[in-house]
Formats: sequence, structure tokens, C-alpha cells
Amino acid sequence: CGIVGVVGNKHARDILMQGLEKLEYRGYDSAGIFVTNQDQNAKLIKSVGRIANLREKIGIEMAGTAGIGHTRWATHGKPSETNAHPHTSTDGRFVLVHNGVIENYLEIKNEYLAGDAFNGQTDTEVAVHLIAKLAETENFSTLEAFKKALEIIEGSYAFALMDATEPDVIYVAKNKSPLLIGLGDGYNMVCSDAMAMIRETSEFMEIHDHELVVLTKDAVEIHDLEGKILSRDSYTAELDLSDIGKGTYPFYMLKEIDEQPAVMRKLSQIYADEAGKVKIDEAIVNALIEADRIYIIAAGTSYNAGYASKYLLEDLVEKPVELGIASEWGYNMPRLSEKPFFIFLSQSGETADSRQVLVKANELGVPSLTVTNVPGSTLSREATFTLLLHAGPEIAVASTKAYTAQIAALAFLAKATGTAIHNDKAANFDVVHELSIVAQSIEATLSEKELIESKVTGLLETTRNAFYIGRGQDYYVSMEASLKLKEISYIQCEGFAAGELKHGTIALIEDNTPVLALISNNPKVAAHTRGNVSEVAARGANVVTIVEQDAAIEGDDIVINNVHPYLSSISMVIPTQLIAYYASLHRGLDVDKPRNLAKSVTVE
Ligand code: G6P
Repeated sequence: CGIVGVVGNKHARDILMQGLEKLEYRGYDSAGIFVTNQDQNAKLIKSVGRIANLREKIGIEMAGTAGIGHTRWATHGKPSETNAHPHTSTDGRFVLVHNGVIENYLEIKNEYLAGDAFNGQTDTEVAVHLIAKLAETENFSTLEAFKKALEIIEGSYAFALMDATEPDVIYVAKNKSPLLIGLGDGYNMVCSDAMAMIRETSEFMEIHDHELVVLTKDAVEIHDLEGKILSRDSYTAELDLSDIGKGTYPFYMLKEIDEQPAVMRKLSQIYADEAGKVKIDEAIVNALIEADRIYIIAAGTSYNAGYASKYLLEDLVEKPVELGIASEWGYNMPRLSEKPFFIFLSQSGETADSRQVLVKANELGVPSLTVTNVPGSTLSREATFTLLLHAGPEIAVASTKAYTAQIAALAFLAKATGTAIHNDKAANFDVVHELSIVAQSIEATLSEKELIESKVTGLLETTRNAFYIGRGQDYYVSMEASLKLKEISYIQCEGFAAGELKHGTIALIEDNTPVLALISNNPKVAAHTRGNVSEVAARGANVVTIVEQDAAIEGDDIVINNVHPYLSSISMVIPTQLIAYYASLHRGLDVDKPRNLAKSVTVE
């Protein structure tokens, strides 16, 4: 979910609406805003669906100088106007927006709010009723009631609270969910992500867990839970307004796919000097050398990027690399090696499932590295080390450039560590040069968009299911390729180890089942994958081959320029991103905002 708030600006409504539009990637099943002014002339409007629906409903009369807004990704209660935020107390005095999950909301309801009538099913409504109850029965000020409520509430939250009788104050607090203060000229803001307010300001201030902030137009008062007032410096966000626009592209996803060659080159500029010598913080390299096993923890596309980097890391760093699904490891941590090292891969740096594992790692004293696109994000702050992806904001829900940037960033780490331990393969792996070849290969693939579109248009327009198959690195790419297709085209698609098909799954192949085969130039397996292609073709499958040049034969459908085998996951994934994009487009779907999803999932 995404939160915005502003106090002290006569364009409050517009600032909130523009902010929500920038946060839509965090959820878009319903939205709402509350706006008020000095005369306490307040209005609350909510709507189901996209921010555009809310915009239509608002009209022009919703003027005010302060307000809060929310865009939702449902956790408790289905998407409906009643369940949309902001939520209010029964008398309408308190207005609250929330991101996160209140774990003890049922206990709170029973213990403190017996007899209260609720409009919907959300945990947030319980929180705002609790604040009202404390203010009323204990005769607490709003600040005291909010503070007391925070002591009672267990779980994750980012809250922005308004009291209709104090139209020039926003009360803010966070625990485990992201929230920032934006500093305007004569007014102040609060938001889940700097992107929401970058039109207004580039000056931001962090809020830490268990802090409470009283925000007025010219003051940011940060309290700890003991009531002590803390001082904090602001920082300048390095976000460019043009980075967060779509330009002439119809969808962010296509723009982000196209940005990948530039991202590869940027990483070389950042992580190598002009002579091509790799620059990675020595402390990270030493920590990796100290470890006896590397654990990569991630979710979704980042998890797939972990697999795509496994072979390269194992080969150069000379340690086993184990992958962990964050949502599993948070609660089912397997037995660890004696000297583990954790790598968290996360585009947003905010994924709650990954954070859950990081909290455990920190408790165990295990050193960790977060590889993320967002400086200052929660996972970055809380891990021992950070490596940034420098991919620029990724806005389409389906991740593309973050996946390839993650593999490339880990290639620099592997090279630096391999060099430090005098690994021969590391000495022979010129990562800067090889990534420049990757960038060229991506460019060549991007210049073939029409061909790629034509190969899949008929094939994927109406089918209900499809398969990606491959072996080794190509199997890992198949996992990502199928996730991409699933999430934006709603085709049920499995990424499968090509050799494993015959042990069961081949039963699903029937006439015209689309099977997309990935064959990179790995002589050990390419011929075997060809064999598996013949097996499915013989059973009626409609096969599309995506093949690296040196492994290509006549009749292959999509041919990719050769790259170093360590980096083939990057070049091989590009056509699959385009395939997912065109499948979604031809099915008439919203490429950037697929149903049921959110880009940054800050609940477990
Ligand atoms: C969400 C998104 C996925 C993403 C995953 C992990 O589920 O929809 O696209 O891969 O989170 O996100 P992260 O920011 O941690 O890489």
C-alpha cells in the first residue's frame, strides 16, 4: 500500500493525488483521500479501483490545506469502498491511513472496543477506533492517544493520522513499513516512497521504527516512544523527475526493458575504474572470504535473479551458494553452515518477507549484504553491507531491469572476491568487457522487437497455458521467463528443467501447447535440450526456440548474440521479457499494473 500526506499547502488535494499516482505501483485496488482546512471544512472521498477512478470522483471542490491519502493492496477485507482508506472513528474525528498488518487486531477489538460498530473488515479501522477510544475514555490528547495505541498495537505499520479538530497537524509513525518525511518550502509531507513527492521537494528525512512524528507546516518533531524529542538531518534524494516519467513509451515496462543496455554500462562505471579494475568495498569481499557458505534470500523475480547468479558466484568465490525463498525462511530457517553469509536481493529493499529473514540473521549475528535498487531502504539500512543496483526507478510491477542489474552487480562481487582469492577463472573473467558485450547483445535483441512480437502473437493470444524449458542456466532463466509471462498475461506458465519434463509434466503437452525452449551456447547441455524439444514437438507442442548464436541451427526462431557463459542469463532473459510484454499487450491487459499484484509488498 502507499501513503501520502501534506500539511500547510493550499494545493493539498493536488499534491496528494499526484503523490498517489506515483505510488500506484504499491497497490491499486482502491484509494482514498481526506482533505481539510483551517475552518475544519473536511472531505473524505474513496473509490474502488485505480487512482484514475478516485480522480473522477473528486471533482474540484475538495480544496484544503492539509490531508492524507492512500492507495491499497488488500490484505484484510476485499477491495471495496468501505475497506478503502482513510478510515475514521465513529464520530469522524480521527482519520487514519495505514500500510502493514496489525497482528493483534482481533484481541484489540475484543479487549478495548467491545460494542463498537465497524463498517468494514480491516485491521486499520480497529486502530483508528482504538485511538478514539483512548482519547475519549482516558481524556488523552491526540498525541497521547496515538502513542498509547502504538504501545498496544503489534505488527507492522506505517500510519498517518489526522484529528479533524487539529487541521494543521499530521501524526505519523512507523514500524517495519516504509515511511519518509518530505520537506517543502513552508509546508511538509509524508510518503511511503520519495518518488511520491519528488515533484515538490528533493529534501527528505528518515523516520525509524518505533518513532512518532508530529508534522506541521514548519516543523518536524520526532519523538521516541519514551517521549524524548530527537534531532535528525535531512538528506537529498537523488531522483530525477524525468526518471519517473514514461516519456513517449506506452508502458513503463517497455521503457525499463529498453534501459537495460544503459544499466549494464552504468554498473561498469560504478563498480570498475577507468582501467577496468573492479571496485567493490573490501569489507564485503573479506566477509565473503570469511564465510563457508553463501545464502541468497529473496522473493519473486529477485529470487530468480539469485539462481541466475549462483553458478557464477560458486565458480569464482569457491563456496556453495544456497537459495532461500524469503517467505519460507522467515519461519522455516534450515540448519545453517558454521560461517554463513546472507545476501538479500531486493529491487525495492522493502519486501517484508525478506526483512523477516534479515531480522533473524541479525539476531544470529550472521553478516549480510543487501543488493538493492533503493538507497536507504529498510533492507539496506539493516544489513551489514549494501551494494546498489543503480538501475534507476523501476515502476512497472513486472520487474525487468532490476533482474538483469542484480546479476550484473553480483558478477562484480564475484569477480572482486575471486580476484582476492586468486581464483584462475576470476583472473580470466574481464567483467567490464563481458558486460559491454552483454549490453550489445541486449541492443541487438531489442532491435528485433517486431520479429519477437510476430513469433508470439498468435501463439500466446488465447492459450491458457505454456511452458518454458531449459537446462542449467537456461532452466533458471525459464523460471523468470515463466513468472514474467504469468504475472502480466495471466497465462499459466511453468518454467521447467527440460530433462525433467519426461518424468511427469510431459503429460500436459497436447496439440498446440506453446513450449518456449531456451538454448544458450553450453555444449554440455544444448544437444540434450534439443532432444527434449523433439519430444514435445512429437506430442503436438507448438515450439518456439530462443537460441544463442553459436548454438543455433537453421529454423530457430529467435537468435541471441553470444555472451560469456556466466552472463547468459542476462542476454537470454531479454526476449522473454518482450514475449511477456507482447502477450499482455495483445491480450488487451494493463501491462504495468497486472491484477492482484503490487510492486513492493511490505506485508508478510
Ligand atoms: C513483489 C513484486 C515482484 C517482486 C517481488 C520482490 O511480489 O510483485 O515483482 O519480484 O515483490 O520484490 P523486491 O523489491 O524484494 O525485489
